[in-house]
Amino acid sequence: MTDQLTAPPTVEASPASWWRNAVIYQIYPRSFADSNGDGIGDLPGILTRLPYLRDLGVDAVWLSPFYASPQADAGYDVSDYRTVDPIFGTVTDAEKLIAGAHEHGLRVIVDLVPNHSSDQHDWFKRALAEGPGSPFRDRYHFRPGKGENGELPPNDWPSIFGGPAWTRVEDGEWYLHLFAAEQPDFNWEHPAVRDEFKTILRFWLDLGVDGFRVDVAHGLVKEDGLPDVGEHAEWHLLGVGESPCFDRDGVHEIYREWRKILDEYPGERIAVAEAWAPNLARVADYVRADELHQAFNFSYLGTAWDAAAQRRMIDESLAAMRQVGAPTTWTLSNHDVVRHTNRLLQTGEGEVAGRRPTAVDPVAGLRRARAASALMLALPGSAYLYQGEELGLPEVVDLPPEVRQDPAFHRATGQDGYRDGCRVPIPWSGDTAPYGFGPDGGDSWLPQPASWAQLSVAAQTGVPDSTLELYRTALAVRRGNPALAPTDNLRWVPAPDGVLVFERAVEGQPVFRCTVNMSDRPVAVGRPGELLLSSGSLEGTPVDVVLPPDTTAWWSV
Ligand code: NOJ
Ligand code: CA
Repeated sequence: MTDQLTAPPTVEASPASWWRNAVIYQIYPRSFADSNGDGIGDLPGILTRLPYLRDLGVDAVWLSPFYASPQADAGYDVSDYRTVDPIFGTVTDAEKLIAGAHEHGLRVIVDLVPNHSSDQHDWFKRALAEGPGSPFRDRYHFRPGKGENGELPPNDWPSIFGGPAWTRVEDGEWYLHLFAAEQPDFNWEHPAVRDEFKTILRFWLDLGVDGFRVDVAHGLVKEDGLPDVGEHAEWHLLGVGESPCFDRDGVHEIYREWRKILDEYPGERIAVAEAWAPNLARVADYVRADELHQAFNFSYLGTAWDAAAQRRMIDESLAAMRQVGAPTTWTLSNHDVVRHTNRLLQTGEGEVAGRRPTAVDPVAGLRRARAASALMLALPGSAYLYQGEELGLPEVVDLPPEVRQDPAFHRATGQDGYRDGCRVPIPWSGDTAPYGFGPDGGDSWLPQPASWAQLSVAAQTGVPDSTLELYRTALAVRRGNPALAPTDNLRWVPAPDGVLVFERAVEGQPVFRCTVNMSDRPVAVGRPGELLLSSGSLEGTPVDVVLPPDTTAWWSV
């Protein structure tokens, strides 16, 4: 297994397996930077902010979908996989962005949405227009209904976004949609679907992208005959149990085919799976040597802020991925879950997993989030950051219902659909909204809180204890420290209850130590060596340093 010692100064000069320990920054295009003042972020906006990402010190960006889409689910409903939606720009803008990113030494990963299309996709429109028996119906899951007059859905599957997973069309047939009704599921048993996605992969690879994030990677293949879930209705997007519509063995054949395509291109093009499987061993199946490269570790994301639980999860994660020779892919936040500034203080069921936001003390929330980020960035493997976490943005918990756009908010009955609170546009500068997100006086598609003036990039730049500078330091240390490159060199050091201490070694010699105090009391940790970084102020004496609660420190030993 090759591991780079330092991160690439340029994309061209990068060593092999760049992705094994890469830090990858998720851009949610509609909320990142708006070039034309329509309140929606766009590709030209991202282009102007590339120097910021280079200076932050990330290796790559992942862009959530920017393809042609009616935006029923913020672009995860694609009507044309080879075009850019006019709200985001043009294909030429995408080309410029890819080239610009490469010039700044940043790789580009784009989102691929293969589980479903938009109901405005040509195939689905033809399937509807041509009626029962249309060959286009076979590319989706159309079925007659149950009941005397076909008035009941074909099976009992619920949609992830609430309500049944089936919608009836005028001629009486029903079609399957695991998400919104505007997102009909493809039938992956159909060869035309498989062929189509191979050409979509090539389209973007030819344009120069470095990889794909695969949306709902665990969902493409459904159990033969679409059997009822019956009493086992506990399954859902978070993949807690066996389900006839998720994580079926047949899905892996698709990824083996995709891997061959990725490997045809130079420069190690990668794919990262969004696979909510029931356990880490099943997640590891997606990253076997001939399948995808990475799979988000959502088990880690949903682990409570508790030293024993975290240590267990870290060990299990490393062990599960080691079984297949893959690195672990850590992440704490994304556009679907409650930001970890809030989440790690939440305690209720569903709240820890990030599906339900609650208000928390913002000071305590930020302190814990900074400690958690510093812990994650010290772990072996790759890490994904979600835009705004480097600013310590909190979850916005008080958006009024009329501005919310998450389709699940309107379909569900209050148990889900709170994803707008982590999607509020980024504050870049200035004292008044939109804080440099777009031109002065412009709008933002979700309102930004007044308190965000103090959290802007400009307000934090050069301020030593700001969250932005903490991330910059962490990423710079990560790049420069040879102990942080290997993916298999973590060793735990005995520590008091509630405290995690581990070391990373080079050629068997520990050279880096991370200490995390997850307890609610200050803990003396001695002075293990030279302090490289700390997520909060340290106390104690020069020889016996005290870590306050919810604080992480990095040391060179
Ligand atoms: C997962 C995406 O991250 C989420 O935003 C989307 O709603 C669903 N997949 C459906 O595409
Ligand atoms: Ca715009």
